[in-house]
Amino acid sequence: MSIKKKVLITGGAGFIGSHVVRLFVKKYPNYHIFNLDALTYAGNLENLTDIEKAPNYTFIKGDITDENFIEKIFESHKFDSVIHLAAESHVDRSIKDPLAFVKTNVIGTMILLNAFKRCWSENFKDKLFYHISTDEVYGTLGDTGLFTESTSYDPNSPYSASKASSDHFVRAYGETYNLPYVISNCSNNYGQNQFPEKLIPLFINNIIHNKPLPVYGDGNYTRDWLYVKDHAIAIDLIFHNGKESETYNIGGFNEWKNIDLVKLLCTQMDTKLNRKKGSSEKLITFVKDRPGHDLRYAIDASKINKELGWKPSVTFEEGLEKTIEWYLNNEDWLNSVTSGSYKLYYQNQYS
Ligand code: NAD
Ligand code: TYD
Repeated sequence: MSIKKKVLITGGAGFIGSHVVRLFVKKYPNYHIFNLDALTYAGNLENLTDIEKAPNYTFIKGDITDENFIEKIFESHKFDSVIHLAAESHVDRSIKDPLAFVKTNVIGTMILLNAFKRCWSENFKDKLFYHISTDEVYGTLGDTGLFTESTSYDPNSPYSASKASSDHFVRAYGETYNLPYVISNCSNNYGQNQFPEKLIPLFINNIIHNKPLPVYGDGNYTRDWLYVKDHAIAIDLIFHNGKESETYNIGGFNEWKNIDLVKLLCTQMDTKLNRKKGSSEKLITFVKDRPGHDLRYAIDASKINKELGWKPSVTFEEGLEKTIEWYLNNEDWLNSVTSGSYKLYYQNQYS
């Protein structure tokens, strides 16, 4: 089969990236998918064992901050398009080590942009740099309102500041060098293969082991949750049909206060684990708040809905149930990612 496109997906061994890699490898046999990942604590090739031998898939271990290496792989493979997900992605880690976020999220993105520009600057026809970003760049909402594509950037955490900076550089390369790009800013994802440092998988793991559920502050913080496979579908649509130089907001139309979400999770876990109703809720423990904690995120996803016909395919209750089932059926995965350095992280963050 002749190869129509060479697509570089960065961060493809991570949570969202692995779902995007799988979707593209399976759906587009005439594309060659290159997955570039440094395999940090968050990257795990076990997320991709089902497609690792596919003829249209190649894994490249490497760091996006390694300029020589990145230049070389662009020279040898001449990727037509990039879907850039590689990042440091956890707010709490960014509070402890902000510089690591600048290195990967800002400098790493710059190095990719430069390599892509050098590779194609004479002819950008049918080329695309697709930058995956977050709704956290918009800062926080009060009790009302939604983030639209024209909401001003106002990031509050080192994580969101580094993602905002990378978004600005992508846009600046579009304006300055005509580099063809598209950006999407998505709300909180959940689903299988998410590293158990983020709220939902951390709490699932703690409930399994009867450990306290550390709710920050009073728990009255709101997030808009989207099932990861629906994010991957949106990325596919934007990659193929999104308008160049534009931004698309992606959200779940699904706002939850943390404390209400945690209670729903506890109820579903009690049922799945055949535990007495109410037993998981007893594990809820209110702990010291996260510094600079954003009160509320909520996305207006009407643009992607109207222009590309996208909307979430599962309800939150269904998605959460599928997620819980996956973690309960994949105990080996959970045990392997929570051994070693995870224990140290947990101790530092929650002791
Ligand atoms: P993740 O932390 O699960 O995965 C990140 C991946 O990037 C890992 O596989 C890791 O090994 C890799 N990586 C990290 N540093 C690297 C480097 N220097 N070089 C090469 N690879 C490196 O993250 P995720 O939750 O899957 O998020 C993916 C992207 O989506 C990020 O850009 C994030 O900002 C964005 N995003 C995430 C969410 C969410 O809720 N998780 C929501 C919106 C946007
Ligand atoms: P998280 O999953 O870290 O995503 P983000 O900070 O990017 O939104 O956190 C989701 C919400 O849950 C956020 O308001 C912080 C809160 N939270 C807790 O209350 N306890 C925890 O242990 C964690 C990790 C998060």
